[in-house]
Amino acid sequence: MTNLESGNVDIKPADGKLGVLIPGLGAVSTTFIAGVEAVKRGLGRPIGSLTQLGTIRLGKRTENRSPAIKDFVSLSNLDDLVFGAWDIHGQDAYQVARDARVLEESLLVPLEESLRAVQPMKAVFDREFVHNLKGPHVKQGATKMDLARQLMDDIASFKDRNKVDRMVMVWCASTEAFLEPGAAHASLSAFEAALERNDPTIAPSMIYAYAALKSGVPFANGAPNLTVDTLAMQELAKQNHVPTAGKDFKTGQTLLKTVLAPAFKARMLGVQGWFSTNILGNMDGMVLDDPDSFKTKEKSKLSVLDVVLQPDVYPELYGDLMHKVRINYYPPRGDNKESWDNIDIFGWMGYPMQIKVNFLCRDSILAAPVALDLVLFMDLAQRAGMYGIQEWLSFYWKSPMTAPGLKPEHDLFIQLAKLKNTLRHIKGESLITHLGLDYYQE
Ligand SMILES: NC(=O)c1ccc[n+]([C@@H]2O[C@H](COP(=O)([O-])OP(=O)(O)OC[C@H]3O[C@@H](n4cnc5c(N)ncnc54)[C@H](O)[C@@H]3O)[C@@H](O)[C@H]2O)c1
Repeated sequence: MTNLESGNVDIKPADGKLGVLIPGLGAVSTTFIAGVEAVKRGLGRPIGSLTQLGTIRLGKRTENRSPAIKDFVSLSNLDDLVFGAWDIHGQDAYQVARDARVLEESLLVPLEESLRAVQPMKAVFDREFVHNLKGPHVKQGATKMDLARQLMDDIASFKDRNKVDRMVMVWCASTEAFLEPGAAHASLSAFEAALERNDPTIAPSMIYAYAALKSGVPFANGAPNLTVDTLAMQELAKQNHVPTAGKDFKTGQTLLKTVLAPAFKARMLGVQGWFSTNILGNMDGMVLDDPDSFKTKEKSKLSVLDVVLQPDVYPELYGDLMHKVRINYYPPRGDNKESWDNIDIFGWMGYPMQIKVNFLCRDSILAAPVALDLVLFMDLAQRAGMYGIQEWLSFYWKSPMTAPGLKPEHDLFIQLAKLKNTLRHIKGESLITHLGLDYYQE
């Protein structure tokens, strides 16, 4: 029996195949899929993945017990992952991966057969939510509820066709236009009525999430869209005992922000300004060039500093902080995003200092292992009987979802401690508090 409070959790084994359902067959998802296929064949290493490379300390430091995380909580093996996707274009994963030019052709060619097998299903799409894209490979339906039913049919036939035992859905499609929660998202019954009447405040991502949760499939949201972060979806997740998580993969600039800002606060150093800008030339950059999609991303990227620095508690240090985030679409760079941060800090007696961070990153190379870890941990959550918002996975998100009224945790190392303590807890191991006094006192 599952008993999360006492840590006496019955975790079902990770036997059989795990279906990975991905709305959005673009740069991130094909880099993720191709990477998994490469690791399976010994052609690459899963660098950046906590589930594949991470260990977890158990017990006292003197016990020297640090198993691999994937063995400790028995996660699905990469050999057992089967991929399915939806997209508005009809190109298979091989074609998309080649066009995305994230991974080199020499790595992709030996994977061709398995990547060609990932053919996108027709998407649920609405240009009202992604102005800068259009595509022919889309479902038609009289109502949004009808589209949701078509997605549920896709999920059921994917399961039968591939003989998978369990599934997880991870949103890797484009960022949608900004949406505030409204009446249609306030309860499950309101949401279902809104689906039937084609309410304009129901975005495609919500239709996928609804179909997943109705089908008992955990849903993780890699983009900053509202999607599953509503009362209606949480009601459904609870009702069907399905885990949800989101939102917006934390990969580059924001990852570093959630390392640096906690360091300044830990040392009581002031921050006067933080200017973050990016150039990005992939399709995500093109979508984010539209002000409505950018607004969704901007809100997600801006949310971090206020929560970490607590200007209400430390007005002298952070009360006047100016925080600006920009993303500029610049095609020559493709997926190789470059970000600059100028941070104006001040110290003892108010003396000003500056920090410059210039991150020449690769967007999809950073996001792929995050998608993999989320798939495996969301499946673990479901096997452990954990449902609703999985706050212990905040580690992976720019805007972690929380229960209503709670502030998210953004500090990367508190997030990691929370993740690892959750794993210890469900396995009945003692939590690690880092107190350590017992080493020094009789
Ligand atoms: N790469 C990163 O570091 C990172 C970090 C955080 C979030 N993200 C988010 O991940 C998502 C994917 O990024 P990407 O670089 O792969 O973008 P991409 O443009 O290469 O791929 C997105 C794909 O989604 C498809 N799509 C759009 N709407 C759809 C719908 N309704 N149904 C099915 N498919 C749809 C597009 O046709 C495209 O092929 C974006 O929302 C991005 O903002 C990426």
